[in-house]
Amino acid sequence: MGRLLITGGAGYIGSHTCVELLSVGHELTVLDNLSNGNPAALDAVRRITNRPVNFVEGDLRNPNDLHAALNLESFDGVVHFAGMKAVGESVERPLAYFENNVTGTVNLLKAMAAHDVKTIVFSSSATVYGDPASVPIDESFPTGATNPYGRTKLMIEEILKDLYAADPSWRISILRYFNPVGAHASGTLGENPAGIPNNLMPYIAQVAIGQRPYLNVFGNDYPTPDGTGVRDYIHVADLAVGHLAALEFLRDEPKLVVHNLGTGKGYSVLEALAAFEKASGRDIPFNVVDRRPGDIAECFADSTKAQRELNWSPIYDLDEMCADTWRWQQQYPEGFPKEPR
Ligand code: WQD
Repeated sequence: MGRLLITGGAGYIGSHTCVELLSVGHELTVLDNLSNGNPAALDAVRRITNRPVNFVEGDLRNPNDLHAALNLESFDGVVHFAGMKAVGESVERPLAYFENNVTGTVNLLKAMAAHDVKTIVFSSSATVYGDPASVPIDESFPTGATNPYGRTKLMIEEILKDLYAADPSWRISILRYFNPVGAHASGTLGENPAGIPNNLMPYIAQVAIGQRPYLNVFGNDYPTPDGTGVRDYIHVADLAVGHLAALEFLRDEPKLVVHNLGTGKGYSVLEALAAFEKASGRDIPFNVVDRRPGDIAECFADSTKAQRELNWSPIYDLDEMCADTWRWQQQYPEGFPKEPR
């Protein structure tokens, strides 16, 4: 297999993808500025796979860091996770998001071209679909971000498309994730949110472990079966395998492709909460509060294109996503030890 540079590989989805890439023989170098990632995640990856992972601390905003990383090896490709990803924070700090995500990616692509590395798998998001006119959502749906974070993802997709139009020797996979949740089955690697979790599943897990008194349910007056928001939760291990499949799909010839990575099934907030109560045996108290600004009622994928073209299908169900999250939460109630910075 190949030698890959993994940007943001010390983060949640990046580290879980490293496990899957190593398991099929890829050799990895992780580049991460540790603003959100944690070296302990890479230690867990090494323990789980019994394989080495090279690590380089660096920042996509600094082209010198990128050239230094790309000088380390003759890389076959890049899997690009690095970026800021909190919707609410992006509304408060748009310039930080555009500088980190968009400028950082332009720096990465320029450095890759300079080193003649022209294979990239990009971590995009279903958030580029904005508020869809219907569900399930397929890749032909119109895009239109509703927040600065989503706009950075959409802008990067457009940058990649323009790059490919200018130089069709690139091999580019754009993966639109739906709602990543879950943890490695060992319970030694999982989502490690700093501070108060923005996302539903880690917040529920912290209620279950007793770190938070109850869940705030952001609205129960949506046009959905039980009034709460419906999302396509996908196990991070399924998501990780989708990256293997995307790299394989890029091997034969230059192309630019876009695929949804979701299960195609939507679950409401209350369904996710009930599944977590079943998995953990814990009661999850909740309060219904006002809708969160910017939230949409329903979002779930039509991922048949990825199943057809990438020969990829998600295998974990919501109960397994909750069970794996709970196992991780029990072993690491506070997440990974905070690294002295
Ligand atoms: C899920 C549902 C909330 C928290 C976001 C980003 C997306 C991706 C995943 C990065 C919604 C409800 C949540 C809570 C709640 N991130 N909820 N109480 O908003 O679908 O997607 O995270 O790529 O780009 O947009 O995920 O987990 O925040 O919310 O009721 O404390 O849970 O209203 O219906 P979301 P989420």
